[in-house]
Amino acid sequence: MERSMKLDKITLGTCYYPEHWPEEMWEEDLQRMLENGIEVIRIAEFAWSKIEPREGEFTYEFFDRFLEKAEKAGMKVIFCTPSATPPAWLTNKYPEVLNANMDGVLYRHGCRRHYNYNSPKYQELVTRIAEKSAAHYASHPAIIGWQIDNELNCEKNEFYSESDTIAFRVFLKKKYHTLDALNEAWGTVFWNQTYTDWEEIYVPRPTPSNATNPHEVLDYVRFVSDSTCFFAKMQSDILKKYVKPGDFITTNGLFGNLDNHRMTEESLDFITYDSYPNFAYCLDSYESEKDGLRDRKWSRNLAEARAVSPVFGIMEQQSGANGWNTRMEAPTPKPGQMTLWTMQSIGHGADYVSYFRWRTCTMGTEIYWHGILDYSGRDNRRLAEVKQIHKMVGALEPVTGSHYRAEVGIVKDYDNLWDAGLDMWHQRVDRESSKSLFAACQKTHTPFDFCYLDHMRAEDLFRYKVLFYPHATIVTSEMSEKLTAYVEQGGCLVLGCRTGYKDETGKCVMSRLPGLLQPLTGTDIPEYTFVSPADGTVYADWDGVQIEACIFNDLLEPLTEQARVEARYVSSYYAGTPALISNAKGKGRVFYFGGAFHEHTARVFLEKLGVAQPYGDILALPEGCELTVRESTDQSRYFFVMNYLEETAEICLKEVFLDLFEGKEAEGKLELPPYGTKVLAKINSINR
Ligand code: GAL
Repeated sequence: MERSMKLDKITLGTCYYPEHWPEEMWEEDLQRMLENGIEVIRIAEFAWSKIEPREGEFTYEFFDRFLEKAEKAGMKVIFCTPSATPPAWLTNKYPEVLNANMDGVLYRHGCRRHYNYNSPKYQELVTRIAEKSAAHYASHPAIIGWQIDNELNCEKNEFYSESDTIAFRVFLKKKYHTLDALNEAWGTVFWNQTYTDWEEIYVPRPTPSNATNPHEVLDYVRFVSDSTCFFAKMQSDILKKYVKPGDFITTNGLFGNLDNHRMTEESLDFITYDSYPNFAYCLDSYESEKDGLRDRKWSRNLAEARAVSPVFGIMEQQSGANGWNTRMEAPTPKPGQMTLWTMQSIGHGADYVSYFRWRTCTMGTEIYWHGILDYSGRDNRRLAEVKQIHKMVGALEPVTGSHYRAEVGIVKDYDNLWDAGLDMWHQRVDRESSKSLFAACQKTHTPFDFCYLDHMRAEDLFRYKVLFYPHATIVTSEMSEKLTAYVEQGGCLVLGCRTGYKDETGKCVMSRLPGLLQPLTGTDIPEYTFVSPADGTVYADWDGVQIEACIFNDLLEPLTEQARVEARYVSSYYAGTPALISNAKGKGRVFYFGGAFHEHTARVFLEKLGVAQPYGDILALPEGCELTVRESTDQSRYFFVMNYLEETAEICLKEVFLDLFEGKEAEGKLELPPYGTKVLAKINSINR
């Protein structure tokens, strides 16, 4: 059975810090939250010292008093383990628990997330406080679930402490058994890096030109992910012993160098995401914005959350301005934006949305990170908006538990994700194509899912009409088998340049390219090149449509009779050479494109392959609106139409829908105000 929050309705919550406010305020705060539609709070993720103020001295009074008030008020609580912020007594006495930068300099007390996952001492002390907290609080009637830590791998997702080096050696011994195997996998014969003793191996350290052996770094990232998963599991194994039946275990955020799927499978009931679309309006990111999507880009992150847990939660949803005292200067959400961003989360599959935070903190690094209430706590516009959102969410009850629906998939896997993190050549094509495919899907109102190949069976892919796997530079035989099965049963797979030239160690293969995928693609790549800015833009002609083949070009040749040249380059010294080849395989077809996908190119693919605008015949929307679709088990569909524009958008319903917010049927032209959302239902409609 799918593991989710098991809510009977879409629910609102907030993050509350009882330790930040005088106790006399608690009751009134709880009361006010409930009056405004907030039914769940998350507490205690940074409050280690309130439970263990001195080493080995445990006291439960503080949260006992708070939980008693919460229970009396009828407030439900998500309780956290406090491992994100070890107390000063701990880091001072046991500096080995601290994380370090690559130079080995320790990160000290004063901020947060300054610990490492591999220190046996930290593991011991975290285990103890998690066990004590769970044993004491888990049976409390106000508690409905647990959050482990806070944002694992946020702040820092690289670890260079001595404990990490020791654990890295253990990880490598388990993986390779012998130094010969490790030397072979890492290609250490290059530049005389051969290891003769395990003690010679360290987590990456500073090297000239910052260019540490890439195969070593790839294993190091796998190791960081492994350490994070271990740390989460260590805590979840404890919590599982104590949680009441029906209570859940989760953690929040999606950060780098972490296999979030594995962590969720091993340790959580579902993932929760922290959604801050207002980052789009931060001074430092605003300038670099090019595709006009701004806050809509958070839909990409929500698609990532959904790829981990189809029905997920938002543990922290934007409710005020961004801002630390050191960075992230951004405005207050405009009237309607909190509603829009809440609907964005729900439209993508969230059934729980919890605002960060109830009151704006008056002290510390986050004095400018605003919550619902400002410093004074007076009633304000944002609180009124929460109350309004609560009313709207009441109308969305039938949407609860339904799944996002997409016919297009963008395939990913962790090895390629991590390889793109360290290999600039891979990163450049990957960034361009993922940004472009997302933008093209958004602007053509084509819902898509991220499909993590390393966590899906071939059968899970069969429901997608088209899969894009833009630049799988690392390809293994297992991956190739899944992709072949997908195509053979009738799927359409689109690959981009630089596919299949590495094995799982990150070393280049010596077979003809695209390596293991040559039989599937029926394509050969006798030559390839980076596109120099001096060459200008390279185009290919696809039946009269010019598409850009940016960044890197594979020059293609068909290998089989079924392989058809679809497009040829029209510029550079390779004008006339095939740029796109399609190959029939079983009931399906695979396309190999020799470039990275520019936004226009991605759009042409969606259109030519017949998957753009799947709902164009029943709904017409301007580009500035997003469309998401959730479908329940009885096949009722809920179309979320969200206007991100600062002006009124005109939408046209070409059929009769049930407008959930209005509670009546709607058809024809409708106006959607700035930041407005409509949820239009087709109850029990079988596939159109
Ligand atoms: C999140 C974090 C919160 C708070 C918020 C605003 O990443 O989980 O604790 O720091 O950002 O900065």
